[in-house]
Amino acid sequence: MSENVLKGSNKQHNLNNYEETYQNFSWDEAKQNFTWNETGKVNIAYEAVDRHAENPYKKDQVALQYVSPDRKESLTFDQLKKQSNQFANVLKDQGIEKGDRVFLFMPRSPEFYASFLGVLKVGAIAGPLFEAFMEQAVQDRLEDSEAVMLITTPELLSRVPEDQLPDLKKVVLVGDSSDIPDGYIDYHQEMAKASESFDLEWVDLEDGMVIHYTSGSTGKPKGVYHVHNAMIQHYQTGKWVLDLQEDDVYWCTADPGWVTGTSYGIFAPWLNGVTNVVVGGRFSPEAWYGTLDDYQISVWYSAPTAFRKLMSSGKEIVDDFKLDSVRHILSVGEPLNPEVIHWGKKAFNLRIHDTWWMTETGAQLICNYPTMDIRPGSMGKPIPGVTAAIVDDQGEELPPNQMGNLAIKAGWPSQMRAIWKRPEKFESYFLNGWYVSGDSAYKDEDGYFWFQGRLDDVINTSGERVGPFEVESKLIEHEAVAEAGVIGKPDPERGEIIKAFVALNDGYEESEDLLEDIRQFVKKGFAAHAAPREIQVTDAIPKTRSGKIMRRLLKSRELGLPEGDTSTLEE
Ligand code: WTA
Repeated sequence: MSENVLKGSNKQHNLNNYEETYQNFSWDEAKQNFTWNETGKVNIAYEAVDRHAENPYKKDQVALQYVSPDRKESLTFDQLKKQSNQFANVLKDQGIEKGDRVFLFMPRSPEFYASFLGVLKVGAIAGPLFEAFMEQAVQDRLEDSEAVMLITTPELLSRVPEDQLPDLKKVVLVGDSSDIPDGYIDYHQEMAKASESFDLEWVDLEDGMVIHYTSGSTGKPKGVYHVHNAMIQHYQTGKWVLDLQEDDVYWCTADPGWVTGTSYGIFAPWLNGVTNVVVGGRFSPEAWYGTLDDYQISVWYSAPTAFRKLMSSGKEIVDDFKLDSVRHILSVGEPLNPEVIHWGKKAFNLRIHDTWWMTETGAQLICNYPTMDIRPGSMGKPIPGVTAAIVDDQGEELPPNQMGNLAIKAGWPSQMRAIWKRPEKFESYFLNGWYVSGDSAYKDEDGYFWFQGRLDDVINTSGERVGPFEVESKLIEHEAVAEAGVIGKPDPERGEIIKAFVALNDGYEESEDLLEDIRQFVKKGFAAHAAPREIQVTDAIPKTRSGKIMRRLLKSRELGLPEGDTSTLEE
């Protein structure tokens, strides 16, 4: 197990003995690690930031190291506490109250992190949105959550259809004062006036913290609602799985518009008091390898698509960098191919540790730990305090090596508490006491879990979850498109790409220009990552007699597989 030994250090791992901890651990005991307020109330922003700012040994440690091509800036825990206090004061002045939904739609920046924490400090619920979203995607999310405030930039404002959003009362703009039109709140101007002290709102563990919108196979995106109680699991997995130690420099590459970018790009690192590196700007192999060296990253959390991109940029580039500060690498979001693990060993002399979880689960659930033997291709074993199983469609547990639904015994700390305003959707995840993930997998005799695929039509492109329904809805808004069916098509680098089948309206003829126009229509109206890379024109989209698009049939035809049961196919 020589590759398990930390390079250049004799540190003990935080989880020395998985099996023993798994037998003995309880979440109730883990709760004792927190500095509960006298009243028994909490606030995750306090636990993550203010607590360290009050510690004379930690207050001047860099909490946030922001790096982008045109801006480098660091904030200590003390500075981050003060800036988030200032923003909390701005929110309070604007009448924002506990439980209000405040959305953030902007690129990663120090202002994003200060305002995100400020939102939590007033007890409001933060809704981070990926900056690449276009008008429709922004509207769907703000409308559904009834957000009362949006924090964005002057550049992104044109994608916010304010006249369609009656609940949206206030918009804060982060930018140069000269770019801020009348009627908007000028972030920098208000911050300059605001006090650096703030009495934060102590909330209950079950009070709302974050809403992340995510996609299913049907309907509009769902607002996955998380509460402050999740902090216990963020903290604990930060120790066991990320193996964070006080002097680590940690880099999570995910954007906070996705759950990884909040749970593991904000909460887990700061609850554990480590320096958190945030990288803005576009991906390039040079910039990424350079970041690892320049900032002496020791723990690195990324995704298979990114690793595959680095891998395909070749070995020559690797030779230009030292890459000797990294001691622990982790992956999430898509299946981690054994090939990528082998690349990791060559480039870093380290194994890449796969972790499995979902927006709905709030935090990691099935993982590979630094001290555990890895079986390349397996997602690992459940974290202590969590029971995972493979169940059938009745919620009955299946024996080892049988494929079925990957399920988690309901009731872990970071579990979502609701799908915003859709109780029946929320209920539909649970069966016989299990949370049923929608992923198919099997468990081997030794308790390792092996991912097989999705059981529904959700697409995973470059680790991003895309709902076919949303893309189809946008496609049929195009004047030339009569019907559309969207599938994920396997792709060596991106995992899957989005392929659309479209039937054209009378009077339209297939041409390169038309297909490009349709693609741009989705890209500009919805989001670049959701625009189909391939569009194929067909006469008709196969549907069931009840009118549901048979994506499964489109997919098996595309892949040249047997068509399966087509008895419900419309004549
Ligand atoms: C997939 C991301 C294989 C899976 C945190 C899941 C994975 C969906 C893995 C959730 C993994 C996540 N191996 N597949 N290690 N991790 N997935 O909600 O299909 O964006 O259901 O959360 O990504 O995606 P989400």
